[in-house]
Amino acid sequence: MRVLVTGGAGYIGSHTVLALLEQEHIPVVVDNLSNSSIESLNRVSEITGKPIEFHNIDLCDEHAFHSFMREQSFDAILHFAGFKAVGESVANPLKYYKNNIGSTVSLLKAINASTSTSPPKVIFSSSATVYGSSTELPLTETSKTGDGITNPYGYTKFVCERILTDTVAANPAFQAIALRYFNPIGAHESGRIGEDPAGIPDNLAPFITQVASGKLSELSVFGDDYDTADGTGIRDYIHVMDVAEGHVAALGVSEPGFHAINLGTGQGTTVFELLTAFEAVVGSPIPYAVTPRRPGDIAECYADTSLAKKLLGWSSTRDISKACADAWRWQSQNPQGY
Ligand code: NAD
Ligand code: UFG
Repeated sequence: MRVLVTGGAGYIGSHTVLALLEQEHIPVVVDNLSNSSIESLNRVSEITGKPIEFHNIDLCDEHAFHSFMREQSFDAILHFAGFKAVGESVANPLKYYKNNIGSTVSLLKAINASTSTSPPKVIFSSSATVYGSSTELPLTETSKTGDGITNPYGYTKFVCERILTDTVAANPAFQAIALRYFNPIGAHESGRIGEDPAGIPDNLAPFITQVASGKLSELSVFGDDYDTADGTGIRDYIHVMDVAEGHVAALGVSEPGFHAINLGTGQGTTVFELLTAFEAVVGSPIPYAVTPRRPGDIAECYADTSLAKKLLGWSSTRDISKACADAWRWQSQNPQGY
């Protein structure tokens, strides 16, 4: 398939471009490099031995993006482009509403403007954050969404899912899938591509690897008084290559309409368990201190993965140890990122 990958130079996008090339698909990347480096795609080319078509375009620039779309034809679109920093979205909500919702609306307008009778299916990067304060565990796709979302970033994902639902309802030929990622971590096993956060990482795994490498002094464990086995928060950490392969599997879904599908492992892991798994691959203790809970955090979140198995024929195949080993290889071989 010829597949447009918006945001394809970013963390999950670049790993997915690699997975697409491995399955003989033809990815075409559109990215404005606002949170990424073209070096990620250079390295994917180097790993796979295949060239990648790249266009530096902002999806919110409708003039530029729509003229690009008029000249192109795609079987499917993987829509990763968007901002993702939860804290920044609280400080600067309009930046997030404008970019995350604006890029999605721009993309759908471009598809609607096409005269093709079979529009490309859209696979959207959603998030477990849409479940907000839902306490049903494991979280299934029918669990309540929207209530208790604690930040503008999370609302952009919720609203984009709504926009896709309404667009499909208005045009039955249209097919859209929202993949709700749980917590993607890790890197490609080559150690050549990985997560390259700007500044101090918000997320647990890149924070731990930067402490392990000496770039940061110690991990703050946000609360050890949750009602969990060791008192720390539980999440469903999924290897980024499993997430990437989940997207390739989603290309094969033929059911029309809108589908929301969890991409997780179904396994919950505490902060201390992830820390211990990293210590095993790093080979030394990783300094930490327990600090108060982070506002907005929930105690526990992990996926019911049965719908992904049924609709995509996909389930995760890599465990936490592999994710930690691959993340550490990336961090130690690329201490300054790209
Ligand atoms: P990332 O920041 O590494 O990648 C996003 C890419 O989109 C970047 O390359 C950025 O330059 C590009 N981009 C942003 N706005 C753009 C625009 N207007 N036009 C063109 N390009 C634009 O993030 P990621 O971790 O790879 O996440 C990819 C998607 O998955 C995002 O939508 C994110 O919200 C979602 N998601 C990520 C996680 C996670 O933990 N990483 C979890 C759930 C959902
Ligand atoms: N944590 C720490 N110390 C840190 C960072 C995190 O103890 O320095 C803890 C958190 O309290 C939580 C767990 O580690 O218990 C995971 O935190 P992350 O920030 O890595 O991930 P979240 O589950 O909070 O959120 C992430 C993304 C969201 C996304 C969500 C679900 O940041 O954008 O996963 O996909 F919506």
